Amino acid sequence: MILSIESSCDDSSIAITEIESKKLIFHKKISQEREHSIYGGVVPELASRLHAVALPKILEETKEFFPKLKAIAVTNEPGLSVTLMEGVMMAKALSLSLNLPLIGINHLIGHIYSLFIEKEAVLPKTVLLVSGGHTMILEVEDYEIVRVEAKTLDDSFGESFDKVAKMLNLGYPGGPIIEEYAKKGDSNRFDFPIPLKNSSKIAFSFSGLKNAVRLKIEELKTLSEQDKYDIAASFQKAAISHLLQKTKRVFDIFKPKDFAIVGGASANLALRKAFENECKKRKINIEFADLKFCSDNAAMIGRAAIEAYKLNKFSDPLALKANPRSTIF
Ligand code: KG4
Ligand code: ZN
Repeated sequence: MILSIESSCDDSSIAITEIESKKLIFHKKISQEREHSIYGGVVPELASRLHAVALPKILEETKEFFPKLKAIAVTNEPGLSVTLMEGVMMAKALSLSLNLPLIGINHLIGHIYSLFIEKEAVLPKTVLLVSGGHTMILEVEDYEIVRVEAKTLDDSFGESFDKVAKMLNLGYPGGPIIEEYAKKGDSNRFDFPIPLKNSSKIAFSFSGLKNAVRLKIEELKTLSEQDKYDIAASFQKAAISHLLQKTKRVFDIFKPKDFAIVGGASANLALRKAFENECKKRKINIEFADLKFCSDNAAMIGRAAIEAYKLNKFSDPLALKANPRSTIF
């Protein structure tokens, strides 16, 4: 079995995964959403202190599996350095004290493997990753070969939802809140610009759209609940249209057979529906991670670690670093 740890942002999570069967034996996550909500975003120092309390608490519940462990895996990039450090320090201590190999896992690769929890990996696949930190289209050949086909020039998709929710004083994380508000709103009331609409660039951008929402909020001055619903619906429509428009370009050029969407924001049902419709038209298979594995979790890190274990990709417990940026793409 592999014990995996995730602490790249505001979720403290540990999983135990059986290597041969890929069965998820244990999985627990303590989320810090409530603690960060009043600040409208994640406060790194607070997140780090909360991980230092939550991770040992979860680890305590995994002790019965220690004799069966073959490796310790941990997210070591990308993420907030102070929070990554909490998981990395724990993983190093476990690796050295239990004399087990250590596996550093890239969080983005973890999100890709959220598609294959308790399953065989079916690759190659074109993957749209939409999270709080990233928005990219990846061509995934296998565990080691991943090419970036598009990425964001500024904010990420999830982050733009968080920022719009903050502007509307709705709390954190903004994604699920904006999605709920959007259900009650008129998506045609505000004509927010679709980013890079007339650009041939295959890239994403959300800062202009976010700014347009800010200007509209300033113009309206006092907002009724209905105004907020309409802003959420109009913003969500423009953000999803942008994702779809650029992904269609990738579809036109690379003509993938298999496509998937992963990351925290892939829980958005309006997004899922828009892409399902497009893929149906083009006869492209579309897949999503199970809803409970979209946001950050250690199960996806454990699943990715099985691939690393089989390829003998181990890290030196004295040298493994917590990197705020992805070193592989
Ligand atoms: O993957 P994740 O848990 O953490 C990162 O790796 O960043 O993604 C969290 C992000 C947050 O920005 C959150 O607002 C967004 O995913 N998110 C959503 C939805 N649920 C979560 N965005 C849009 N719609 C949602 N339903
Ligand atoms: Zn993530």
